[in-house]
Amino acid sequence: MTVLVTGVAGFVGSTIARRLLDDGVRVLGVDALTDYYAVELKKQNLARLEGDGFELVTAGLLDVDVAALLSGVDTVFHEAGQPGVRKSWGSSFDEYTDHNVLATQRLLEAAVRVGTLRRFVYASSSSVYGDALAYPTTEETLPRPKSPYGVTKLAAEHLCSLYAANFGVPTVSLRYFTVYGPRQRPDMAFTRFCRAAVLGERIEVYGTGEQVRDFTFVDDVVDANLRAMDADVAPGRVYNVSGGSDATVNEALDRIAELAGAPLDVHRGEVALGDVARTGGSAELIRDELGWAPHTSLRDGLAAQYAWARESFG
Ligand code: UGA
Repeated sequence: MTVLVTGVAGFVGSTIARRLLDDGVRVLGVDALTDYYAVELKKQNLARLEGDGFELVTAGLLDVDVAALLSGVDTVFHEAGQPGVRKSWGSSFDEYTDHNVLATQRLLEAAVRVGTLRRFVYASSSSVYGDALAYPTTEETLPRPKSPYGVTKLAAEHLCSLYAANFGVPTVSLRYFTVYGPRQRPDMAFTRFCRAAVLGERIEVYGTGEQVRDFTFVDDVVDANLRAMDADVAPGRVYNVSGGSDATVNEALDRIAELAGAPLDVHRGEVALGDVARTGGSAELIRDELGWAPHTSLRDGLAAQYAWARESFG
């Protein structure tokens, strides 16, 4: 069996690929190595995958023959995309429509043509909910994205559901809630905070720090993906992948200070445009249908991320 992981050099993509390789699965990875953040970090993620069973195509999904990529592939984990809630305004929106919406449409079209996929897992996002109408937020809650990024993640998710309904493409969309852990993207809160704690640098908090996130540890996210691959569910399902450990940014900072054994240099400023006040997902549906539940507490997960940060930046 061969599995295609798009965005294989990224944080979640590379962690999924590493797990599949450890399980003896052949992985074909594709990544455009865009410069949204340092390409060197992506190369470090790729270095962990080199060896038997791993093949890499370095290209953007809009620049390759995607049908050729899918030939002989059993499952797709579609992790590629232009990430980041706060950078999706203004002229950079083109990158979000290209990498999130158009690229997903190309893959889905190719999936129809090739017709042999057993599963197509799409990395969706809690950002589709915006400031959610209800907590814990269920998949039935009306999505109302608050950032251009969230709009593109939702558009691509709708495409997955459309291609499932009209052509039977076996999609499952997983709405990830703020994924963290070792090798987290450098623009995300915990990597920035842990790095600053290790180096004794200043930390910028956007807003009061009282915003709440349903932080989800990366290994739990990988587990949700593997369950989505194996489960016998109807095409087009959508699930929250929410960590069950809601915390404020300030609470996370307190924990990082404990791990560092020293006070942090924290500065609070303006709320970032597009940021929501709270995320908190219900994981009932995914528990009932895929048997998934998060296993890593924020305390343990942050300890793992801090240990990684100390090794990487110390
Ligand atoms: C994250 C990812 O970046 C998105 O790609 C993903 O789709 C989204 O989760 C999701 O769950 O849907 P975000 O929740 O903003 O987005 O994740 P973090 O970067 O970890 O930020 C968490 C909170 O910390 C936010 O309120 C943010 O404003 C704040 N923050 C972040 C700071 O106060 N300072 C920083 O330096 C960075």
